[in-house]
Amino acid sequence: MQGKRILLGITGGIAAYKIAFLIRILKKRGAEVKCIMTPASSDFISPLVVATLSDNPVGIEFWDKKTGVWTNHVDYGLWADVFVVAPLTANTLAKMASGVCDNLFLATYLSMKCPTIVAPAMDLDMYAHPTTRRNLDQLKSDGVTIIPAESGQLASGLEGEGRMAEPETIEAAIAHFFENNSSSVPQLNSRKILITAGPTYEAIDPVRFIGNHSSGKMGFSLAKACLEQGAEVILITGPTQETLSHPNLTIVSIVSAEDLFLQVKKYWETCSIGIFSAAVADYRPEVKVDQKIKKSDEHLQLTLVKNPDVLSWAGSVKKDSQLLIGFALETSNLLDNASDKLKRKNLDIIVMNTLEDEGAGFGHTTNKIALLDAHNNFTKFELKSKLAVATDIVTYLINYKK
Ligand code: CTP
Repeated sequence: MQGKRILLGITGGIAAYKIAFLIRILKKRGAEVKCIMTPASSDFISPLVVATLSDNPVGIEFWDKKTGVWTNHVDYGLWADVFVVAPLTANTLAKMASGVCDNLFLATYLSMKCPTIVAPAMDLDMYAHPTTRRNLDQLKSDGVTIIPAESGQLASGLEGEGRMAEPETIEAAIAHFFENNSSSVPQLNSRKILITAGPTYEAIDPVRFIGNHSSGKMGFSLAKACLEQGAEVILITGPTQETLSHPNLTIVSIVSAEDLFLQVKKYWETCSIGIFSAAVADYRPEVKVDQKIKKSDEHLQLTLVKNPDVLSWAGSVKKDSQLLIGFALETSNLLDNASDKLKRKNLDIIVMNTLEDEGAGFGHTTNKIALLDAHNNFTKFELKSKLAVATDIVTYLINYKK
């Protein structure tokens, strides 16, 4: 459970007091815990206790009425690896089953990107009531995991089924969930990733440019793979036919290397990972002629000047917490050149590809890569679709330890 992000939802039942123990157990197991509470639950357990034990502020209302600060339910949905509701009352169960959204807790449930596990708790007649059974069945068919209530002494004085499962049982269910779902839990939730993609066009005159054959496919595939893992992606792309839309995606279109540099300077500091797959023109015409150049002499001479090396700049200002991945397209001495580039540009990982492999590189839907990291680990991959290659790169960076 080490490092897992558990969002704990607490609703208003007497069993809420047991959540203090559950939070302590989860924290001891190394999980990060954030809590949201329905307004009624604060009658059963103090938000101060919950905040202190979880080491995080507690969400209860959409708005802090004193400061006007808005608590963003979508952020909770992006943050969590699992949403655990304990105790779950008959009232909130019915609201969850029917999609009612009249408090922060319910808005968060509807915004959840990760699986939900619930531990109902209520009196035995309420638990046995056909309405409750129907609502539990509805949640089950919505993909929610139910930790059944246990039998025993109830707050009403009655004895029977309805007690919330003990904190240790809930902990075991969460541990079981992580053991069985490690690959389906988004691994990049709430991480902001900067991706550069496509070619750059360096203007010669209003109608001509120096460009290259990059299609942008690799960068767009990387964006897709990161979005699938719950990341927020800033995709800065040169001219391309590729399209992509997603609520967590911002596409910034650029044309030249200098445009790219401006945008990277704007966003890099705010991101925790940078993947630079753009095929940036190393040189641009010194002068962009305002009018279309007419053909006259037999020879036309263009003077080119060096473009800023955007990746090198990102490496030079990289913070310890940031991970930087660059690409190397080499036609000779692949490993030596890539290793040199990795050090020179202060990268953590470099993706090597060569145009020599059939089906790899510019314009193709497939690519064949090898990865070299700053610890000198070298990993080769087979020829695959660019989306599968992107998934390999993203999986590698998720597991990468600096
Ligand atoms: N890159 C960049 N800005 C540039 C040139 C390259 O951000 N002006 C990035 C590319 O996106 C890629 C990496 O640098 O991730 C490698 O690019 P490449 O052109 O192969 O490397 P160079 O350092 O330019 O070396 P050389 O041309 O000598 O091989």
